[in-house]
Amino acid sequence: MNDAEKTIVELRDVHLAFGDNEILSGVNLAIPERGRVVILGQSGGGKSTMLRLILGILKPTSGGVLFKGHDITGMKRRRLNQMRQRMGMVYQYSALISSLSVRDNLSLPLEELTRKTRAEIDKAVDEKLAMVGMTEARDKMPSELSGGMRKRIGLARGIIMDPQLILYDEPSAGLDPVTSSVINELIISLSDAIGATSIIVTHEMESAFKIATHMAMLFQGRIIASDTPENFKSSTDPVVAQFISGDTIGPINEGTAKP
Ligand SMILES: Nc1ncnc2c1ncn2[C@@H]1O[C@H](COP(=O)(O)OP(=O)(O)O)[C@@H](O)[C@H]1O
Ligand SMILES: [Mg+2]
Repeated sequence: MNDAEKTIVELRDVHLAFGDNEILSGVNLAIPERGRVVILGQSGGGKSTMLRLILGILKPTSGGVLFKGHDITGMKRRRLNQMRQRMGMVYQYSALISSLSVRDNLSLPLEELTRKTRAEIDKAVDEKLAMVGMTEARDKMPSELSGGMRKRIGLARGIIMDPQLILYDEPSAGLDPVTSSVINELIISLSDAIGATSIIVTHEMESAFKIATHMAMLFQGRIIASDTPENFKSSTDPVVAQFISGDTIGPINEGTAKP
């Protein structure tokens, strides 16, 4: 990454084990402010785990996780919650609360975490719904929406607090190609509209190249490449090249997600 770019998130020699199972074995990664960084890697490799470490939901076994220069790994809950309010998360399967309307799903974080009035909350909800083209869904229940619509509402909820950092976990998983393109475009426009940095986990190469300003590849517990999309495309690293081309022959095999 360019030295002139400001770093908003940094992972420093992060190790993470679940019991005897070491998932991350010394991850180093710097996320430049206002970038859209796509994290690539095999399923089961630890990508979602990395996002949970950045959110502070998980603590590393060792190493540092820095948000705006502050190591969040040892932070007290109160301070960590303040940091978390600047982060938005978009989950793989929207994760909307099925008993609440769209409006109430989006209102919830604002009601719980801010002192905004009802009128201010309604305004924020309407603004975010407009940004994802879902104004008419305001009073619907999640069950009344298609998968693509739910995904859009998930995006709106991810940005409801105007986060400085948005984390997306497999945002186009399970969507048809057209809806997937719409979501990709929204990821770009939303990041720009609120001036946020985005970290996007995906294994879909087409989406990855559309969205990314930077790319990083997680392999066997480490970030083995972190570069521009152009350099990824022309990479001679056998792991990166195989992942991008989807070849079945190469260093990546099923079952080698972990060292
Ligand atoms: N809370 C947990 N307890 C034990 N193992 C876990 C937990 N969360 C994830 N894992 C394991 O860690 C590995 C990486 O998971 P994950 O980060 O979800 O991978 P990815 O998102 O790259 O597909 C998997 O083998 C998974 O089973
Ligand atoms: Mg995952």
